[in-house]
Amino acid sequence: MARLRLAVLISGRGTNLQSLIDACAEDDYPAEVGVVISNNPDAQGLERAARSGIPARTVDHRSFRDREAFERALDSALDEAETGLVCLAGFMRLLTPWFVERWRDRLINIHPSLLPAFPGLDTHARVLAAGARISGCTVHFVRDEMDRGPIVVQAAVPVVEGDDEARVAARVLAAEHRSYPLAVRLIAEGRVRVAGDRCVIEGEEEPGAALFSPSSPSGP
Ligand code: GRF
Repeated sequence: MARLRLAVLISGRGTNLQSLIDACAEDDYPAEVGVVISNNPDAQGLERAARSGIPARTVDHRSFRDREAFERALDSALDEAETGLVCLAGFMRLLTPWFVERWRDRLINIHPSLLPAFPGLDTHARVLAAGARISGCTVHFVRDEMDRGPIVVQAAVPVVEGDDEARVAARVLAAEHRSYPLAVRLIAEGRVRVAGDRCVIEGEEEPGAALFSPSSPSGP
């Protein structure tokens, strides 16, 4: 079967991009990274693409007169790369309804919280301030509203006493690096159907036991 062609959009360090590159290097993985596009010419993720021999392009938003012109350039780059699925991976530009509609159900994002809780920036600081004991990450299809859309994959991690932002971020990031390749695999295998505001996953198995935080080794 032909592999699903990904375009990964980044603005920064690109560790989620790296997790997708690594997954795509596996023989039986049903997707390949066709292009990496950054709006930031200094993004570290561009070097990751270069190291793996993946075509990389910078579409710098500052060199366009407005958001529409920027998105049209982005759109052309995606078409040229024969993109089947666009993966936002730390891409720090808001996308307009025109772009979101054009790539509807072919555009996914990863966010470092259990959506719909804690959308937006400074996620981990807000998780800590709220005293949440479980956080995590979400891969979802993109809709007009920021950090909203049908959820493909979520992973939960505990928040523990003594945590600071960096510790929560690291724990969540490790979960992100497994969640994004899983979500892309499910989509590439045709196992994800968008039904209104939610996703239906074909052949889903019942997951393991609940995650307790604080942990409860001997039951409640
Ligand atoms: C990740 O935490 C992701 O969830 C968020 O931006 C961060 C990007 O990190 N959208 P990286 O560039 O993939 O390392």
